[in-house]
Amino acid sequence: MKEVKLQSSHHPLSGELEIPGDKSISHRAIIMGSLASGKTKVTNFLDGEDCMRTIHAFQKMGVSIEKQDTTVTIDSKGAAALTEPKEPLYFGNSGTTARLMLGLLAGLPFFTSVYGDPSLSIRPMDRVLTPLKQMGAQIDGREAGSYLPLSIRGKSLQGMDYTLPVKSAQVKSAVLFAGLLASGETKVTEETSTRNHTENMLRAFGADITVNGTTTTITNKQTLTASDVQVPGDISSAAFFLAAAAIVPDSQLTLKNIGLNETRTGILDVLQAMGASIHLSNQQTTNGELMGDVTVKYDKLHATTIDGSIIPRLIDEIPIIALIATQIDGTTIIEDAEELRVKETDRIAAVADVLTTLGANIETKHDGMVIHGKTRLSGGKIASYNDHRIAMMGAIASLVAQGEVIIDDITSVAISYPNFFEHLQHIKNESTIM
Ligand code: S3P
Repeated sequence: MKEVKLQSSHHPLSGELEIPGDKSISHRAIIMGSLASGKTKVTNFLDGEDCMRTIHAFQKMGVSIEKQDTTVTIDSKGAAALTEPKEPLYFGNSGTTARLMLGLLAGLPFFTSVYGDPSLSIRPMDRVLTPLKQMGAQIDGREAGSYLPLSIRGKSLQGMDYTLPVKSAQVKSAVLFAGLLASGETKVTEETSTRNHTENMLRAFGADITVNGTTTTITNKQTLTASDVQVPGDISSAAFFLAAAAIVPDSQLTLKNIGLNETRTGILDVLQAMGASIHLSNQQTTNGELMGDVTVKYDKLHATTIDGSIIPRLIDEIPIIALIATQIDGTTIIEDAEELRVKETDRIAAVADVLTTLGANIETKHDGMVIHGKTRLSGGKIASYNDHRIAMMGAIASLVAQGEVIIDDITSVAISYPNFFEHLQHIKNESTIM
């Protein structure tokens, strides 16, 4: 446990930040680099705990992976050269590692067992096992394979047509990876678009993949072609500082080289709908991923409704959006976000608990929240629920709180944003590093 005490500085925030690499893209770069034949160099890799789980998993399957700061070099001979790990694979807190790896392990010709931390062990895995079993996978675990630990006996898989019953890029990606190893064609259809980094990177690594409307088709290709990956800054991490500048009067922040893939920029659309001043510059596309600098200036915001197809485009940003909503006049309604119930923690319950402890006025619904603003937040002691995004939301709340905010445990922040607290000090223009 690492407790932290934060005081509001009551000053405008200013400066520029280089936000760490995108978590989703970092995971996928390790996976693709391990499936490719040759050397893949990944730059601006997220040096966070979750992505390290993916690196360790492939190292245990015989891939040579070296990391120096945020540069990772993967030297592999392709999927056919992966070997049976001698010990169980530990996925820690990482849902992305678990779900994406299951798709691959199902089609590799060896036995694996996988497990995670207490949070990951109660997150649903049947959403991945159901399609994989239809392709011929042999996977078992607690409650008929609904939860980790799981054991996987790799099999020859058959391609299939699958319509996603949940709005989940992790499930879509698991089926696409299984499809890469399966015979015939695999088609995945989603009713609401979710992040498409797997599709973009598979294409960049030479997979046989086509996207037609909401349907993606992939055919068997055991060995991809190595390709360097430049990971953009994570918009889900940038969101904390976008929010900070949007709620602390007279602030202005520039966040450099942020991923601006349309499937992830719901937070920018919401801020704009609330009346925020956002400016994009230096935009460029690498390996199918748009990135650029984002400048946000404080302005008076107003409430809005967030629901429907925008939800997957900002699913991880809802905790910080809820904090913004407490600081603006009017009622913000968040609906269709039932997926929040099965994240690192139940994020609807956790957000409501933390923000009401600080004095916010929030009603919870089964699939969202209704937030009545504007409220003056007080100080207080809050729980992080061992969830990185809840801890960071609490830290940003301290910027507008009247008293000291104590967060019970900030260790989870290392999952996605190891230097978050240094960046927080930097934009407060305080030199003390905690
Ligand atoms: C992710 C997809 C999302 C997101 C998670 C990362 C990914 O999860 O919440 O942080 O990298 O594919 P779901 O696919 O479960 O919605």
